[in-house]
Amino acid sequence: MITRTATQFGIMSHVAREKSNEYKVTSLCTFMNEDILNYVTDIHDFNIVVLASLGGIFGSNKQTIEKLRTQVCHGGYIIIDDGYLKKRDALNRKGYAYCRNYENTVKEFTFFNDSLISEISTAEFSKKINTEYLEEIEKRCAELITQHPQMKNDLKNYLDLQREECEILNNEIEGMIWLLQKTKAT
Ligand SMILES: C[S@@+](CC[C@H](N)C(=O)[O-])C[C@H]1O[C@@H](n2cnc3c(N)ncnc32)[C@H](O)[C@@H]1O
Repeated sequence: MITRTATQFGIMSHVAREKSNEYKVTSLCTFMNEDILNYVTDIHDFNIVVLASLGGIFGSNKQTIEKLRTQVCHGGYIIIDDGYLKKRDALNRKGYAYCRNYENTVKEFTFFNDSLISEISTAEFSKKINTEYLEEIEKRCAELITQHPQMKNDLKNYLDLQREECEILNNEIEGMIWLLQKTKAT
């Protein structure tokens, strides 16, 4: 049963509300627009928390699990939708400092003796949506360049960055969803 749902900024909570309608669970949900970094300074006792595609917002993988486990009850579940480095154990690129290889990622996530219940690779799905999104971004940038030619350089730079980001994601990262259960002991 869903008890409470903390969601991310703005549009995401709108989408979450629509989804709850679709699944007829709105009355079981509470929607919040809040900075997650503030929200987790208090301890909570959710049955389950999901950290989906927020990267290293809490720091290293170990700091991430340390923070998330303050948000669930003993025996509660933690879902992390992220990934690991396929070829190396560190990547010198902005936004990827927390990423480690598979072995070290799992070591960090289980550092506090929680159980790793399940893992699902999102590699194929991620590749597919990244390609789709990049096509949309390319289309939109071309439209904007036609409408605002003075922005051409900025838009081209943005596009280059997005292409580079997709290359990194495809070549360096293996997408994975981890399901962990917080130990009943501590
Ligand atoms: C890559 S999106 C992932 C969205 C969604 N969780 C998903 O998996 O499709 C990252 C989201 O995190 C939100 N976000 C970033 N920093 C945040 C913070 N400090 N507090 C709350 N939300 C944040 C952004 O607004 C954005 O909606």
